[in-house]
Parts: sequence; structure tokens; C-alpha cells
Amino acid sequence: AQGFNNVHTEEAQIENWIRGEEVATLKAPREYPMAILGLGASVPTPPGGITAPAFVVDTFDDLDQAGKAGKINGTIVVYNEPWLGSYGQTVAYRSGADHASYYGAVAVLIRSVTTFSIYTPHTGVANYAPTFNNVNVSRIPQASITVEDSMMLRRMQDRGQSLQIYLKMTSYENGTTPGSNIIFEWTGSVFPNEYVVLTGHFDSWDVGQGAMDDGGGCAIAWNTLTALKKLGFQPKRTIRAIFWVGEEMGDYGADSYWSNHKNSTENWIFAFESDQGAFMPSGPANNTYFAVKGNATAMQRLEDIAASVLAANGILFSIQPADNAGGEVNNWADLGTVTANYVNDEKFHGYYFFFHHTNADTMTVLKEEDLDYVTAVLATYTHIIANMDKRLSVA
Ligand SMILES: *[C@@H]1O[C@H](CO)[C@@H](O)[C@H](O)[C@H]1NC(C)=O
Ligand SMILES: *[C@@H]1O[C@H](CO)[C@@H](O)[C@H](O)[C@H]1NC(C)=O
Ligand SMILES: *[C@@H]1O[C@H](CO)[C@@H](O)[C@H](O)[C@H]1NC(C)=O
Ligand SMILES: *[C@@H]1O[C@H](CO)[C@@H](O)[C@H](O)[C@H]1NC(C)=O
Ligand SMILES: *[C@@H]1O[C@H](CO)[C@@H](O)[C@H](O)[C@H]1NC(C)=O
Ligand SMILES: *[C@@H]1O[C@H](CO)[C@@H](O)[C@H](O)[C@H]1NC(C)=O
Ligand SMILES: [Zn+2]
Repeated sequence: AQGFNNVHTEEAQIENWIRGEEVATLKAPREYPMAILGLGASVPTPPGGITAPAFVVDTFDDLDQAGKAGKINGTIVVYNEPWLGSYGQTVAYRSGADHASYYGAVAVLIRSVTTFSIYTPHTGVANYAPTFNNVNVSRIPQASITVEDSMMLRRMQDRGQSLQIYLKMTSYENGTTPGSNIIFEWTGSVFPNEYVVLTGHFDSWDVGQGAMDDGGGCAIAWNTLTALKKLGFQPKRTIRAIFWVGEEMGDYGADSYWSNHKNSTENWIFAFESDQGAFMPSGPANNTYFAVKGNATAMQRLEDIAASVLAANGILFSIQPADNAGGEVNNWADLGTVTANYVNDEKFHGYYFFFHHTNADTMTVLKEEDLDYVTAVLATYTHIIANMDKRLSVA
């Protein structure tokens, strides 16, 4: 209806993990039902559930110590890791099932990976490796609990109380299921085979609505095309939007697209993804940037756009080099395509993780003007990159 070109879907097969029923009840030192969310790809418990002593560790070192002392065998391990300053460091504990299984643990409960909690468990994918320390390990059920409950279990253990937990999960893998990437574009008038690609993922976890992760990313890509079209700016290069499917279980849509198109003769000039929150700055607008992988020519041009066009309009914005600009556009970096992700540094390490992968990721997370602001930044860059005489990286 908006008159874009080449509007279509492309199918991808997605791992179809089904959550099922989930129960975690503290049985001792007192009976207490805990909120849990199983981690994506978790195996189930036996049908009747398991009741086992629980052992709380704060770090992998704690686990190694306790494991070598024989304290882990037959227990449910509770990872009570604090927020370690970044998602990347903290989320390592979400892949801790194999490590615990190595010492004989029967299940793992992990403190939710978040900077703040109001009793909200956070899910996320957690795959298994066949071995740990070169030893075959069995796959054990894994789920997240709230920060509050994790800390409570730690206090109980510190007081010398013996913990016992009942855990039941009926999750299962249901083969693969087809889904579709959504693709549309506005064909360039001069260099139609050169592409500025704007992406986000429109799948989300089964809990919440995925408004922030990553409806916001799709919205700003779509809105950028809409805004430029409304303004009557016919681009010289083609601007393509892609909404990826199946990201949360493991980039299934992006990987499928890559394998079907990597040999294409299209010239990918700039590939963008927003998956770290499409938020406007809350204070002085100096903590938002593109994390970019590109060569010095491209970096300089992107910085020049921030300094001349955005700054002149009151938007303080910068360009930061990144080894890895984003899970879904990384593949293109190997072709020499400039890849970028929008980051609001303050909110990514704070606000974003309040809601990430929870029931609370709903429309209310995005504030009035967030999407307009980030669209303004993205549309400015898109318009210039699509129309400049030379390609972005070419001196
Ligand atoms: C756990 O205990 C069982 C039974 O005592 C034993 O067979 C097994 O080897 C132990 N596993 C580990 C990892 O210590
Ligand atoms: C580990 O598993 C592999 C594959 O199932 C098997 O070939 C191997 O013998 C196992 N190793 C041990 C030490 O059990
Ligand atoms: C499991 O897979 C089958 C076959 O693809 C499908 O019909 C069914 O809807 C799936 N179940 C769930 C709960 O998605
Ligand atoms: C892409 O090219 C490689 C090497 O030329 C070839 O092996 C592969 O089959 C091609 N893939 C597709 C999807 O055409
Ligand atoms: C960003 O704003 C803060 C608070 O006003 C200030 O302390 C900081 O120096 C600014 N950073 C940059 C890069 O301008
Ligand atoms: C960046 O790459 C382009 C070709 O893709 C090349 O023309 C340009 O000179 C490179 N710039 C630098 C600084 O290496
Ligand atoms: Zn995401």
C-alpha cells in the first residue's frame, strides 16, 4: 500500500522449541513457589519433575571448588552471578549447564541476566555442548529465576540452611517450523544494484510482545523508508528493509538469507541492524552512537555526517569502532560491507536489560518520541549513504 518495490517474504526453517509447563518450588527450608522461565532449548525434567538439594554458587570458580569437593553431584545448581557490568560477561552464566553437569548436577537455575528486577524472570537461548573439559556430559534442564529469589537462596545457604527444590519442566524440541523473513525496498534511480540495508528482527520470545526486542528495530527501518518517501527523496541507491525471523533461537532467518544470497551480485554498501533498543537519550544526547565495522574511509565519512548534519540539528551522535556490529549483519562485514548497530550506551547497559526477554517487553517500554528520534538519525544516514556520489567506503 505504501508503494515500495519487491515486497516479498523468504522462507527459513526455525528450531521449534516448545516451553511447556514450568514449576519451581522451594521445598526446604520452607515451602515457597518461585517464578521461573525455562531457557530456550532446555531439555525437560522427567515427567514427574525432580526434587533435589540445591547448591548456590556466585561464580564458575565457586562451582569448581564445590564440584571438586563433591558438593555438586546430585544437586540443582543455582548460579547467583551478579551483573558483571556488561551483558556479554554476565550471560556466560546462562550457558553454565554443561559446566554444572560435569560435576553431576541434575539441573541448573540461573539468576536472571539483568541490571534490575521487580521479580521478573528473563529467558534466553542456552544451547548445550556435547562435552565439558573433554568429558561427555548429559543435558540437564535449565531455567531462570528472579534476582530476588536467587539472592534469597544465597542468604539461606549462607545461614547454613539446607535447600531443597522441586523442578518440573515439560519443554521439548518439535523439529523445525517454517517462518518468513519480510523484505521490501525502494529501488535506486542511479545505482539500483547498490544497497543500503536496514534490518531488525520481528520474532520475539514467547513471553512479552517483543516490542523493544526487537519491534523497535523493525519500526525504525520501516519508518525510515516511509519518512524518506513522504519527503519525496528518490534515492540513487536502493534502500532495502529486512525484518528477520527466528533470531532468538539462533539467527535462523539471517543465516538462511545469507546462505541463499551470499553469492549474489548485489553490492551491499551499508548493512544496519538495531537490536540494542531504539531509545532516544535521556539526558544530554551524547551517549548514542553507531557501533560500526568498516574501514577508515567509511568511519571518517560516518563521523563527518554526525559532525555536520546531526550536530547542526542538535543531535550529538558519534561513531564507535566495533569488531562485531551485530549478530544479523556480521556476515556482510566479510564482503567489505560497512555494518552498523544503533546503541544508546546508557540505556543498553541499564534500561534495556530491565525488560529484555521477559513478560514485560511490551509497548509501554518505548517512550513517546523514542522511535521518531532514532528514525531521524537512521533516515539521515540512509539518505546520505544512498545518495552520495561515491560508495561509502571508497576514497
Ligand atoms: C555422582 O555420584 C554417583 C553415585 O554416587 C557416581 O556414580 C558418579 O560418578 C558421581 N558423578 C560425579 C560427576 O562425581
Ligand atoms: C562420548 O560420546 C561420543 C559420542 O556419543 C562417544 O563416541 C565417546 O565414546 C564418548 N566418550 C566417553 C569418554 O564416554
Ligand atoms: C509441532 O510440530 C507439528 C508438526 O510440524 C505442528 O503441527 C505442531 O503445531 C507443532 N506444535 C507446536 C506446539 O507448535
Ligand atoms: C556459492 O558459491 C560457492 C563457490 O563458488 C558454491 O560452492 C555454492 O554452492 C554457491 N551457493 C549458492 C547458494 O549458490
Ligand atoms: C556527556 O555528558 C556528560 C554529562 O553532561 C558529560 O559529563 C560528558 O563529558 C559528556 N560526554 C561527551 C563525550 O561529550
Ligand atoms: C576502504 O575500502 C575501499 C574499497 O572497498 C577502498 O577504496 C578505500 O581506499 C579503503 N580505505 C582505506 C582507508 O583503507
Ligand atoms: Zn533481539
